[in-house]
Amino acid sequence: MKELLKRLTEAYGPSGREGPVRRLIQEEIEPYVDSMEVDALGNLIARKGSGDKRVMLAAHMDQIGLVVTEADKKGFLRVHNVGYLRRPYALGCLVRFENGLRGVVAREVERDDPADMSLGKLFVDIGASSREEALERVPIGDMAVLEPQWAELGNGCVAAGALDDRAGCAMLIQTLKELGPCPCQVVAAFTTQEEVGLRGAKAAGYQVDPALCLALDVTLTGDTPKAERLPIGLGKGIAIKVMDSSVICAPQLVAQLEQTAQQAGIAWQREVLTHGGTDAGAVHVSRAGVPSGALSIPCRYTHSACEVVSLADIQAGVDLLTAWLSQGQR
Ligand code: CO
Ligand code: ZN
Repeated sequence: MKELLKRLTEAYGPSGREGPVRRLIQEEIEPYVDSMEVDALGNLIARKGSGDKRVMLAAHMDQIGLVVTEADKKGFLRVHNVGYLRRPYALGCLVRFENGLRGVVAREVERDDPADMSLGKLFVDIGASSREEALERVPIGDMAVLEPQWAELGNGCVAAGALDDRAGCAMLIQTLKELGPCPCQVVAAFTTQEEVGLRGAKAAGYQVDPALCLALDVTLTGDTPKAERLPIGLGKGIAIKVMDSSVICAPQLVAQLEQTAQQAGIAWQREVLTHGGTDAGAVHVSRAGVPSGALSIPCRYTHSACEVVSLADIQAGVDLLTAWLSQGQR
């Protein structure tokens, strides 16, 4: 799974431009699913098994990015965020455009306000020397992502960009690979545009019309120096979400997941997030309502070029999903 995760994090896929990630996933899951389709918003929807009950598992393919809004006379690109860009994390980073071109995120330096990180003060240096040259290489509307990184740290942790939510995609792909006979139909939805407001999941949830939905995504941790109080730690297991600002998870689903993890001896922790949301936020209010929950992979430095997760936590999520799906849901 490590090799798969690496390839997923290296694929280009800001919100609305998920094609390269989707193609990689299509190739990877083809032998393990019964059907695949791509909807009008670019969601990849794959089905496995034939029970009458549809269980939807959603992981988003998109990552945060930057979009070119203008270039100045000297050839520096002006940009806007696509999704919640954490500017201090972006500053000084290399970015990569879809055509492979690279640039550096820098900031106007003004003596009076060194802390000013507003987007208007950021620019991307692609080494162009005029507006014409810059826009010829990167037209207005082109999107960039933070340059992919990959490093293996201690204790089975990896550092990479876009682990939000390629780690969730890897967890879902691995579940499709490992899942044996199962009493329900599993619908794997690899969604688009989560980072700009759960847009892909809204359409996918309506189309799939599932009996239950689980979102698979990353969550914040509270285990770094001076982190806010949050009892979630890296390497401590898969997090079972109780609520965040987009969804209050169905209590019976939360209880069932916790019980399954407990019985199977899978490391888990409970997640209550006071901000942030995930695809379950859109799916649980679709049609007449869908009992929904989420499994979250603890992730440090979310939305930076070097997010950090534990491979063991992802595998714990795979183990929990396969155990929960194969026992059938009440
Ligand atoms: Co995110
Ligand atoms: Zn995410």
